Order: sequence, then C-alpha cells, then structure tokens
Amino acid sequence: MFLGIDIGTSAVKVICTDGTAIHASASADLTVQSPQSGWSEQDPHAWWAATCTALAEIGQTRSLSEVTAIGLSGQMHGAVLLDSAHQVLRPAILWNDSRSIEECARLQEALPEIGTIAGVLPLPGFTAPKLMWVARQEPEVHARIAHVLLPKDYIGLRLHGGLATDRSDAAGTLWLDQAAREWSGAVAEASDTYLGWLPRLADGHEVVGQLTATAATATGLPADVPVVAGGGDAATGAVSLGATEPGRGFISLGTSGQLFVAGDAYHPNPAKFVHAFAHTVPGRWYQMAAMLNGARPIAWLAGQLGISAGEVVALAERADAARVPIFLPYLTGERSPHGDPHIRAGFFGLEDSTERADLCRAVVEAVAFTFADAVESFGDSITGLPHLAAIGGGSRSPFLLQLIANATGQRIGRTVGSDAGPALGAARLAACGAGAMSLSDLAQEPDIADWFEPKRVPELEDRLRRYRALYQALKTLR
Ligand code: XUL
Repeated sequence: MFLGIDIGTSAVKVICTDGTAIHASASADLTVQSPQSGWSEQDPHAWWAATCTALAEIGQTRSLSEVTAIGLSGQMHGAVLLDSAHQVLRPAILWNDSRSIEECARLQEALPEIGTIAGVLPLPGFTAPKLMWVARQEPEVHARIAHVLLPKDYIGLRLHGGLATDRSDAAGTLWLDQAAREWSGAVAEASDTYLGWLPRLADGHEVVGQLTATAATATGLPADVPVVAGGGDAATGAVSLGATEPGRGFISLGTSGQLFVAGDAYHPNPAKFVHAFAHTVPGRWYQMAAMLNGARPIAWLAGQLGISAGEVVALAERADAARVPIFLPYLTGERSPHGDPHIRAGFFGLEDSTERADLCRAVVEAVAFTFADAVESFGDSITGLPHLAAIGGGSRSPFLLQLIANATGQRIGRTVGSDAGPALGAARLAACGAGAMSLSDLAQEPDIADWFEPKRVPELEDRLRRYRALYQALKTLR
C-alpha cells in the first residue's frame, strides 16, 4: 500500500492506495494566520500535527503497517526557515502572501533576465523575494538561517530527517534554472540567499530517505519505509491524472486555481504571468496559469453568509441570471494573468433588489471567469487539447464545471475521485519509487466519469466582457 500526504493550505490530506484505487483517506484542517494586511502564514509544526492526526484517522480503518512507500505533495512557494539545528525560525510565509512587493521590483531590476531563467517574473508569492524581505525586515532571523525548505519538504524532514526537494517544487522558488533543472547561483545571489541553504534536488519518484524511528513512533507508520521526494501540488495533481505526457492538461479548483499543460520542453512565457516550470518527472516541463483565489471566494462567501460552500453553489444555481452583479474575486491579489498583488475583490452592479442568491451567482461565475482569463493567457498553445480534466474540491460541483466549460470554451472531464488529486499523485510517485509502477505507467489517465461540453451563452459572454473591463477600470485604485 502506498501513502500520499498532501500539505494543503486549508487541510493536510492523506490517502492510501494500491496505485489505482483509493483504499482510505483522511484529512485534518489547518488555519491560515494573517497578522497584517496581505500577510499569509502558517506554523510548520501545525502541518506536522495535522499530518499525525490524519494518519491516526487512516489507522482506524487500515493497518499502517501495510504502507510500503510514502510520497509527499504540498502547497508550493512557502518559505520555511530553519536554523542549523533544524529548528523553525519563524512562521512559514505562504504562496498567497503579498508582503514582498518591493523586493520583487528590486530582484527584477538586479536580474532583468530572471523571467527566462526562472520561468516567470518575480511576484511576492514566490520564495526568493520572501528571503529578501526577511533580510531587510528581520535581519536577526536572516542571520540565523541555515536551511530553507518548502512546506512538504519540512514534513519530509520530520519523516526521514533529510533535506531534499523535488524539481517541480524547487521550480516555484525562482531559484531554479528551469532549463538546466539545477539551482541558479545568479538568482540566489540576487536574492540574499546562500546556495548552501537550499536542499538537494531530486526527481519526484526518487527515494530521498527512510522513516526514522522517532517518526515511526509519532505516526504509527513502520520505521525504515522509503519516502520519495514527491512534488508541488500542481505537479502531483498532474501525476494523479497522467498529465506527465506532453499535451495533457487539467484545471485544479482548490484554495488556489491552476490551469496546467504538460510539455517536453521549456517554453517561458513570462509576459502573461504563465509559469513555465520543471515537472516532477525527468525530461518534462509544464505551463501553468496560477490563480491565487481559485475556488476560495465560494468558501469565503459561505463563511460570511453562515452557510456551506455547497449551499452557495445551490443558491447560485437558483439565481435569476438577468440581474447578477459582477464580482472580482481577487481577495489576495492575483498572479495569472495580471501579476497584480495590489488588486482586491469587490462586487459591482448591486441594486436594491439584489438578493443573496445573486451574490452567490456572481461569486461562482467569477471563479469560472478566472479560468476563462487563464485559457486566454495561454494563447495558441492551448488549442488542440482534447479536453481539460478537473480536480480539486470545487470539481465536486457540476454547475461550476459547466460554467467553466461555457466560459472557457473548453471540454471539461471529471475523473472518479477527482478531489483526491495531489495526494493521489504523491502516492503514485511513491509506488514508482518502490518499483511497483514505471515512469511510463504514470502517464495512465484515469477514466472520465462526467463530461461538460462547452455551450455558447451570450449573457455569460457579456458578463465576462464586463468582468474584464471592471478589472481594467479598477486596477489603478489602491
Ligand atoms: C501554484 C500555487 C498554489 C499553491 C497552493 O503556483 O501558488 O497552487 O501551490 O495550492
């Protein structure tokens, strides 16, 4: 049995699989701290505690002694800073944190070719500008840094005691030379980072350590089980869908949103903030539009209205489409396609007659519109894809998937167990590392259970046009 552990933003998710079917799954919730506007932080110890809680839940239905290999997946870009004794120096600064805006400008100025080296232009979510912020704002912390890890790799450290990452997660730091698939000394030097702080690079299916006796006691897993490097959540989501083969694409609807297409060459497209990153498997790269707000605005509105996300979508379905306002979903700024950490969310077009169902519809439509923008930012490189698979919690809603198909003009396919995504991909990498699957087996595509064919809806096209115009009208307001 292979275990996949995904360190998400809202929860740690663990699944147990034989490589195909999922035999058990569990999750443990996480909270995000925002001590100042634009800040987004989590305590790495909370990831470890949630991992142990989820494993204990799995242990109630399956014997953990059956686990023969472990794979890791996680939220990308977070900065976990450790001292020389591997102790956490400060809360991790997450992928949706926007404090390092000035540092991005400085990095771009110091290294104008960075977009071509690192596959994307500097934005505050990435790891390198966060180190520059720490150097300037918290010099006493910066002086004690001995190691920098990504979120899943901190859990790797707790499991096997080693310092390692895979290339897809390394890709999201800005420190990776994407073409060479090695750390870039030039980017490290320009971003207050000593190359020796960075972990060793591995392929996602490579065994990077064995479970320590201490971790075995804490988790109930057998000691010495091999742990593979795994991948950033975009890449492990891809592995769960066979999107390791060139030309396969998918959308992910989680706390963040992604449009991902796999390729066999490195094609940077920094102008539209499409990320060109190394994949977790050798000889593969990917293009990704990363939308910071994903399906999160639905959960946000649900929280404000005191109802569930499912109820928001149900109300949205019942709304009178003729009087729906426009919602800009940029609760935490936006990465693709705007590269705009300043923009914030808002409703436009409210009337005295606007009801909560109309607000729900506007928010659900905005999620679909972010994918329409993502598809547009890919340009010609997306034409000719047979379909886009859909994964993540938001893929549970047929209404949302149909809206996305209509807004993007793309055929969407939902696989069985589509919400397991990244954790399943991590477990498949573990199966590969244990020799139970080959790299070419990873290209197997799961069956599609439901299809969503695009339909032309003129009113939706009109609202998409107004949604785009609204961003253009508001982007200079701070
Ligand atoms: C990808 C991204 C998010 C995080 C959190 O670039 O920022 O997908 O990985 O899920």
